Amino acid sequence: MKRVVIVGTQWGDEGKGKITDYLSRYADVVVRYQGGNNAGHTVVIDGERRALHLLPSGVFNPAIENVMANGMVIDPIALGQELDRKMVNLHISDRAHVVLPFHREEDTRSESDKGTHKIGTTKKGIGPAYADKAARIGIRMGTFVDPVRFAKAIRELVRIKNEAIFQDRRKRHDADEIIRAYKPYQELLRPYVKDTSIFLNDRIEAGKNILFEGAQGVLLCLDHGTYPYVTSSSPTAASVPLSTGIAPWLIDGALGVTKAYTTRVGEGPMPSEMDREQAHVIRERGHEYGTTTGRKRRIGWLDLVVIRHAKRTSGLSALAITLLDVLSGLSVIKVVVSYRLQGKAIDFIPEHADDLSQVEPVYIELKGWDEDLSKIRTFEELPDAAKTYLDTISQVVGLPIHIFSVGPERHQTIEILKTFEGRKP
Ligand code: IMP
Repeated sequence: MKRVVIVGTQWGDEGKGKITDYLSRYADVVVRYQGGNNAGHTVVIDGERRALHLLPSGVFNPAIENVMANGMVIDPIALGQELDRKMVNLHISDRAHVVLPFHREEDTRSESDKGTHKIGTTKKGIGPAYADKAARIGIRMGTFVDPVRFAKAIRELVRIKNEAIFQDRRKRHDADEIIRAYKPYQELLRPYVKDTSIFLNDRIEAGKNILFEGAQGVLLCLDHGTYPYVTSSSPTAASVPLSTGIAPWLIDGALGVTKAYTTRVGEGPMPSEMDREQAHVIRERGHEYGTTTGRKRRIGWLDLVVIRHAKRTSGLSALAITLLDVLSGLSVIKVVVSYRLQGKAIDFIPEHADDLSQVEPVYIELKGWDEDLSKIRTFEELPDAAKTYLDTISQVVGLPIHIFSVGPERHQTIEILKTFEGRKP
């Protein structure tokens, strides 16, 4: 494959950043296609932990061209802070939407209005920025970096927000203040902003290898996730053509990144959630705290109904299993293979969140292993029980496993089968 999508198959935090960073050795271009700084990718290089929220995970490799595509929503201040620390080869879509201060405020406010029905968002203003895009009042990067157009657009948007949305007679947001505060970011970002659809199609014509890096996971997809407990974009592979401006048939395949167990941050159903003590053990071992918000992640057993849902809605070609090392020391490892809903067996995710919260998971139990896996470098070196675990996942889901990982470092990611054709590392 030459053009591959990296898709999170669960509720995000599957380790996509690490897999993207690893596979970027084969890629010429890495593209982030949706979401914003709600995402948090941690990459560990030579023992140093580096967290990314907006920049594509190819930025640590100077030979790679990185694209932030039109499907993203970009907070210029957050991006400015990430860029500050790096010299990167970056191309930002002029059609990507801008996250502004009132979006963050609307996000916080809408969460508190929902009370017990809150979604548990990251409060980064992602939902409100996408809502403005759909309402056709949003501001895009092309406009943002043009001082005259931005001044006009922000005055109009601030008027709408102050009068219509916040329904507040006081001057809640001040367009001139925003213009002043954002001027340095306009200047910083201007050289990177362009039509990235043209850029990407040129690279495709030149035969370059391209990695499309999804943020979040399929179960957080606005359409195919556990609505309404989802994000406001689509992390599926199906989103790539629209969110980048390339033809659908130019995508060769998708690699589904799957954590060896399940985690979720925020509210919403999670059928395989573990009891507190068991969850505590895995959380501490796997450092399961949000990269963006620091929140404790909820922990569950691996749910293969979820992974098959991701396979179907994203057309996955293969899986990458991450954090396998975290499961060492468990005598029994449970895996969900189907559900029962009101006494009936089902093997799909029901439409309504209430139904998903009521399903009873049907588990199979596999033997665990005690060995520390962190020094394993090939599939053959794995203990038999860990091999059986990976083989079972592959068989039940019906996909080959291309990669597994046993730790955060680059050398702890092990490639069993090649995903990209061409260039060798
Ligand atoms: P939002 O994207 O901030 O609107 O949050 C909506 C839901 O998606 C919440 O449950 C968040 O916790 C979740 N979410 C958003 N981004 C990520 C991520 O990168 N990893 C895991 N969960 C996320």
